[in-house]
Amino acid sequence: MTYLIYARKYRPTTFEEMIGQKPVVQTLQNAIKNNRVAQAYIFSGMRGVGKTTAARIFAKALNCQHGPTPTPCNKCEFCKTITEDRSIDVLEIDGASNRGIDEVRSLREGVKYKPIYSRNKIIIIDEVHMLTREAFNALLKTLEEPPPNTIFIFATTEFHKVPATIISRCQHFEFKKISQKEIINHLLSITKKEEITISSFGLNIIAEAADGSLRDAQSLLDQAVAFSGENISDEDLKEILGVMNREILFECSTAIIEERPDGIFPLVEKVINGGYDLRFFYKELIQHFRNLLLIKSVKSPLELLPLREEDMKKYQEEAKKASSEEFLRYLVVLQQGEQGLKFSSHPRIYLEVLLVKLCHFKKVTSLKDILQELEKMKKGIKAPSELKENAEISVLRPEEEKREESVPEIEIQGKREREMEQALKDPTVKYFMDTFKAQVLSVEPIKRVKDKE
Ligand SMILES: Nc1ncnc2c1ncn2[C@@H]1O[C@H](COP(=O)(O)OP(=O)(O)O)[C@@H](O)[C@H]1O
Ligand SMILES: [Mg+2]
Ligand SMILES: [Zn+2]
Repeated sequence: MTYLIYARKYRPTTFEEMIGQKPVVQTLQNAIKNNRVAQAYIFSGMRGVGKTTAARIFAKALNCQHGPTPTPCNKCEFCKTITEDRSIDVLEIDGASNRGIDEVRSLREGVKYKPIYSRNKIIIIDEVHMLTREAFNALLKTLEEPPPNTIFIFATTEFHKVPATIISRCQHFEFKKISQKEIINHLLSITKKEEITISSFGLNIIAEAADGSLRDAQSLLDQAVAFSGENISDEDLKEILGVMNREILFECSTAIIEERPDGIFPLVEKVINGGYDLRFFYKELIQHFRNLLLIKSVKSPLELLPLREEDMKKYQEEAKKASSEEFLRYLVVLQQGEQGLKFSSHPRIYLEVLLVKLCHFKKVTSLKDILQELEKMKKGIKAPSELKENAEISVLRPEEEKREESVPEIEIQGKREREMEQALKDPTVKYFMDTFKAQVLSVEPIKRVKDKE
């Protein structure tokens, strides 16, 4: 038997076999059931989500010997010729390589005649947005005087490039990305049938890399089998996918959490030398911090994060190094930076600056946070009497020290220190100091106390 790539071998032959795309499938089936088939359709959506597949099944549904039927038999001569791509009444044209007026003209000539053999003539134009303006105009004429028994299906990955005049004459179906879960299940069924062993981690990273395209997922599995045979190890897969080495990601998160900006520069160097795209690294880093936040947030992370045991252990260790609030803030800043990195003319510097900033992040407490904390304290705990009477505390984080400004005179230092000690015993102050890991640098006598009551 000749070797068939999985995308071909596992191309659905019935609507029922299609994964996802329920609204599209249902509407197409109903159109046939209710005899309300339109003259022209546009199928839009990213590559590998089933546009061509659906168009072919639709063609069978229309031309099946036992049809038109929402469930073509796949056995009759009509169905078979479509499956095997040799039906003379089902034309598949690639818009990218037949873009010009001449091609569309000859197409117009062709559709003048009735279907030769089948009930309907079906013209599928793939990547229709690639047609030239003249070609579109010619096509438009055809759509304006629709030839009998001819149905057009236009497929496009760039719907916004299709002229409105064409769109207005078609029924539009938007094909969605296939969910990660559906991709994994689909891959799982293929690996079972093909007797391939692969870990759930492996399936996951394939699905992740496929990013919504089922065909891409199948092609990656093809590649993996070509590379490793029937036993696909995680290591092999990582090599094939160029998956970001987790070591680098951990190195990065550790430098950030441990506030070591000096670790950032060699790390970025390593990323570049490793041949990784910086934006890809960044995407992986976001995912990495998301994993850490998830582990911090849920009781049994393994259910949501199918990681290998050793990786999970590493993540759990790493997660201990910071609070979930901190991880949340890292993640928010990383997300905010993604667009900037994409458009930066110096992505390397942009990345370095951003990561160094994150290293200093623990120290930089936002004013909003301080105000919120103070508000909380005001509400939650009684006004601290000692504080009111004795002292006002100026708090500075150790890294922002400006000691020279606030060193008290030697004579009164002893007294002030005692006052400070006293003030620090206050639960409100203690809470504040702990929350912001603050240090008291000076204590000044209070002049006036503004407090309600
Ligand atoms: N929704 C889907 N359900 C099942 N298989 C799919 C689906 N989308 C894509 N595939 C798989 O990917 C291959 C290519 O899909 P295709 O329909 O050509 O995608 P598109 O035309 O959207 O680029 C199919 O042969 C099939 O194996
Ligand atoms: Mg296609
Ligand atoms: Zn049939």
